Amino acid sequence: MGKYADAHRRSLSDPEGFWLEAAEAIEWSRTPTRALDDSRAPLYRWFPDGELNTAHNALDRHVAAGRGEQAALIHDSPVTGTKTSYTYAELRDAVAVFAGALSALGVTKGDRVIVYMPMVPETLIAMLACARIGAVHSVVFGGFAPKELAARIEDARPKVVVAASCGIEPTRIVDYKQIVDQALRTTRHQPEHIVILQRDAARAELGERDVDWQELIATAKPADPVPVAATDPLYILYTSGTTGSPKGVVRDNGGHAVALAWSMTNIYGVRPGDTWWAASDVGWVVGHSYIVYAPLLIGATTVLYEGKPVGTPDAGAFWRVVSEHGVKALFTAPTALRAIRKADPEATEPARYDLSAFEALFLAGERLDPDTYHWAHDTLGVPVIDHWWQTESGWPISANLRGLELMPAKPGSATVPVPGFDVQVLDPATSGQLPRGREGAIAVRLPLPPGSLPTLWGDDQRYIDAYLSQHDGYYTTGDSGFFDEDGYLFVMGRTDDVINVAGHRLSTGAIEAVLAAHPAVAECAVIGVHDELKGQLPRGLVVLKSGAHPDEATLHEELVAAVRRDIGPVAAFRDVTVVDALPKTRSGKILRRAMRGIADGRDVPMPSTIEDPAVLDDLRPILRPH
Ligand code: COA
Ligand code: AMP
Repeated sequence: MGKYADAHRRSLSDPEGFWLEAAEAIEWSRTPTRALDDSRAPLYRWFPDGELNTAHNALDRHVAAGRGEQAALIHDSPVTGTKTSYTYAELRDAVAVFAGALSALGVTKGDRVIVYMPMVPETLIAMLACARIGAVHSVVFGGFAPKELAARIEDARPKVVVAASCGIEPTRIVDYKQIVDQALRTTRHQPEHIVILQRDAARAELGERDVDWQELIATAKPADPVPVAATDPLYILYTSGTTGSPKGVVRDNGGHAVALAWSMTNIYGVRPGDTWWAASDVGWVVGHSYIVYAPLLIGATTVLYEGKPVGTPDAGAFWRVVSEHGVKALFTAPTALRAIRKADPEATEPARYDLSAFEALFLAGERLDPDTYHWAHDTLGVPVIDHWWQTESGWPISANLRGLELMPAKPGSATVPVPGFDVQVLDPATSGQLPRGREGAIAVRLPLPPGSLPTLWGDDQRYIDAYLSQHDGYYTTGDSGFFDEDGYLFVMGRTDDVINVAGHRLSTGAIEAVLAAHPAVAECAVIGVHDELKGQLPRGLVVLKSGAHPDEATLHEELVAAVRRDIGPVAAFRDVTVVDALPKTRSGKILRRAMRGIADGRDVPMPSTIEDPAVLDDLRPILRPH
């Protein structure tokens, strides 16, 4: 561990020097003289006197440096049968025009803009246009229901919503416009305008405050980048927490640009001019950081893929994209690989394509099971890199830093803490550091490095309560895990109510709130259970109200429909069982952790606080992985 160990050590012993040096990769309108501002600890800020524009760094500066004719963005869309490419100059121009259009609608620095869009270039254009004028975008994933969109609109209070008429899923057209209208019928906050990108698959009827994207840009004047403080917000991205109400993770401009540019080269080993593909959705943090910002910040070419890993049209879809566009490194979720493997177990598809440019596969979003790791490694013959991070961190917390120093992989491990992150495994009860080999709460000693969340939108106290108050001086990740004797980190699973369904982060608490609202349900619990393909699936356990005798099939249908209606199809909620009772402590708290442990296949001892051990024993067969 030479170069890596040196970098990690220096990042912690001399964060000022380390990050000011990394900041040189960014073009500032006012160069920062300081890295860390700890005057409001535990609320830290990075580069307090720096000033920049993120969109300028992602586009204009590369055009000025001679990359104007290089592809910035390749949109590969099997669902529409189209492929489109934007050079850096074209993308800069499109972004400048849409930025001008937003300005014409009255959007100014600090205003919020909700983006509810599918995987089309215009989504990136809208995000970067916000960045260009200092507005704050908040992208909402298309698989969320109107109610989830409404919650985000209420919290972010956007001046404008940008949406497409529809999204295209393999089995159906998703009417985004209708979802926006439905959400807005329930919100107190009303944006001034809704900009609609009309797509041929389903054009939307426009109402009074709706504006057609094409008409809007036809008359718009290009806007110049507006310098903003490094500490000004670039975006808000809502993520699931332990309660039903999503948390608005804030990302700043300066720390974000510095950290992402650093990560692209040092972690992913991607350089200016390389083609890179993050096969995620722009609605998730992976999409924000690694479809949009990081590759553009360093002058690489980013691939935007609108389709599924398989079935569009075949099990070789991913390898076709890698081969056709000369992708050097790919980032996706293990679940996508499991889907590919299921469709092509003998791995005959990769051999049909020229993958000679392909150098590395990065996986994150959920635990990478060793079986999938081995399959990918043997099939592709390139390093397969499991790395661990979260919406809050914005970039990897633990990884095999291929660009800096590639280390031997250990299946099941996300390798080592990334420079900037002082990762510790703590005893959940005492907050004491646990020795290597012992599993505990994974925490990061404060301050978090640049790029990580400085706070939650409009709610410093909620940020402190949710992340900083469990272990004094640490950020709590919500994951549990351990270091092995070589200092490799193994991330084992969440300690809270967050589950990962096909790499999509969901709150079981939010699903429980929907089930509990059914008139026949007295109480309920939702647990993530193991699934071969999606990693985890939510399983609902409901106890009926005394006197309620609903038809079980009808109840099942109603509960499944309610979750789809209120949370969205992304929850993939189909599994709900009526049980006689839920295991509780003597003081009446539902023992979710014990149920989660059984669902994870662990040998869970009977909790000492349990009121009636027989209740938990009765549930074991329902919860155990099949
Ligand atoms: N807009 C609208 N609906 C969406 C959507 C979107 N952007 N994304 C997913 N959905 C819907 C799907 O249509 C599906 O609806 P259905 O119940 O009517 O079929 C539902 O949400 C569940 O979708 P998904 O979990 O994607 O399941 P799937 O069976 O369609 O595909 C995988 C399974 C594994 C192939 C797919 O989830 C995948 O590629 N996952 C990778 C995840 C990822 O990139 N995570 C980000 C972290 S890296
Ligand atoms: P998200 O905020 O959607 O990126 O989800 C973050 C969560 O996904 C983490 O807190 C982990 O629980 C899980 N996760 C992400 N990457 C990994 C990984 N490589 N191994 C295990 N869990 C992961």
